[in-house]
Amino acid sequence: MLLIKQLVKTYSSEHQPITILTLPLLEVSEQQKVAIVGPSGCGKSTLLNIIAGIVRPSSGEVNVLGTDILQLRETRMDAFRSRHIGYVFQNFNLLSGFTALENVMFAMQFAKVIPQKERKARGLELLDRVGLIHRLNNKVNRLSQGEQQRVAIARALANKPPLVLADEPTASLDSDNSALVFNLLVEMCSQFNSALIVSTHDIDMANQMDYIFHLRKRSESDDVEAMSDVFA
Ligand SMILES: Nc1ncnc2c1ncn2[C@@H]1O[C@H](COP(=O)(O)OP(=O)(O)OP(=O)(O)O)[C@@H](O)[C@H]1O
Ligand SMILES: [Mg+2]
Repeated sequence: MLLIKQLVKTYSSEHQPITILTLPLLEVSEQQKVAIVGPSGCGKSTLLNIIAGIVRPSSGEVNVLGTDILQLRETRMDAFRSRHIGYVFQNFNLLSGFTALENVMFAMQFAKVIPQKERKARGLELLDRVGLIHRLNNKVNRLSQGEQQRVAIARALANKPPLVLADEPTASLDSDNSALVFNLLVEMCSQFNSALIVSTHDIDMANQMDYIFHLRKRSESDDVEAMSDVFA
């Protein structure tokens, strides 16, 4: 479902290019749940953004569901992402002037995976599933942080994506909400048979995944080593 080989991401700076991520191999199977852990700046967000086709690597291969996504132009990539990848951002990235239901519905309208006449019912079902049926018509900027992240989870799963990415999805939440939101994300990915790749600093959360992928912060004098520890 996901295969990354010999990935390198380099940013140019004033003096010299800086390589911030090198990743020899990462493989994720269908329905597998993987945690990406590592210190701030090691490239977790960059890696997730590369998988989502938002950031382009400097070199390497990124194959998502049999598609070499580096060959896709921007509009094709946007369409591919909307149909196949759900993304839960650290800071939610909801459309703030719109309601919870509208946010979920827009994702379905853009992707056109769910037939039009089923979209409203699915939006209602998803928002019920995340415990927000009483908040459907509230603009999302009036919702609490935990509620907003639950809308973001409903939106990410709206098109039944085979792959869900979540970038520190509980980092903005208090500890009670963190556990609730994280468990909901994991349960819903299981329910919809979605693979999940989640970056987190929380080792208890990481330990709930099938395996943990460690990224180490790259310093100038050494190469990043990436190790995977299989716990299952
Ligand atoms: N557009 C950019 N231009 C230059 N450097 C960048 C750019 N985006 C990210 N970086 C650098 O790449 C490195 C990795 O950033 P990234 O955001 O992926 O780290 P992270 O592991 O997600 O960190 P955190 O845990 O703080 O979210 C950082 O050193 C960052 O400064
Ligand atoms: Mg990050």
